[in-house]
Amino acid sequence: MLFDTHTHINDEAFDEDFEDVLRRAEEAGVGRMVVVGVDRPSIEKVFPIIERYDHIYGAIGWNPEDAVDMSDGDFEWIRGHLDHPKIVALGEIGLDYHWDKSPKPVQQEVFRRQIRAAKAAGLPIVIHNREATADVARILREERAETVGGVMHCYSDNWEWAEAFIDLNFYISFGGPITFKNGRLQQETAAKVPADRLLIETDCPYLSPHPFRGKRNEPARVRLVAKKLAEIKDMTLDELARITTENAGRCFRIG
Ligand code: NI
Repeated sequence: MLFDTHTHINDEAFDEDFEDVLRRAEEAGVGRMVVVGVDRPSIEKVFPIIERYDHIYGAIGWNPEDAVDMSDGDFEWIRGHLDHPKIVALGEIGLDYHWDKSPKPVQQEVFRRQIRAAKAAGLPIVIHNREATADVARILREERAETVGGVMHCYSDNWEWAEAFIDLNFYISFGGPITFKNGRLQQETAAKVPADRLLIETDCPYLSPHPFRGKRNEPARVRLVAKKLAEIKDMTLDELARITTENAGRCFRIG
């Protein structure tokens, strides 16, 4: 069984053929997944999905690009939903310095507030990091995020940083880019990450793996990520699936 630890199946890209997408995932061996909400509309769409489907869990948090838009009311609203039995993580949260809509200090404050909320709720954190690795690591350390740990989502840094995040009790999750021709950094990093710290994801509808790059992604394609990772780790696909599914269960505290 495969566990897609990061999906946006609540995205409107799936409105037309949602049931078909779930069926194809099942046929590809994807037995569990997490649906991630990152703002009001996408978080609202998480609940009907996780309440309807036993095998789908939720993660909710305010994304860094839109940090300037998060009101105190939004923050309290998110906090109020963290005790839902199917919410298994707070995220994706973090820092994104690629876009300049939200100034860095605002992003950092929104990130810190949500780390504290995750710790208060006893939930792991799902991290979105773009061009901000040193600040993400520093803030996680300063906020003592290792008490809850979590996931470095769609990891695309080197092994030295991965090691630092593993020391902070985080799992390293790889997605479609590990299958790309220019995915050498991800491949070299994955080769060094201990098997018990590896996770797989699609981040669908984004980041479709090779040979579907540029097309809408969907959870069934986490199988292509798993195949590539199995090849890198010199394991069978079954072995890789078993280990990464166990890791996800441990990370998200799913029995
Ligand atoms: Ni995402």
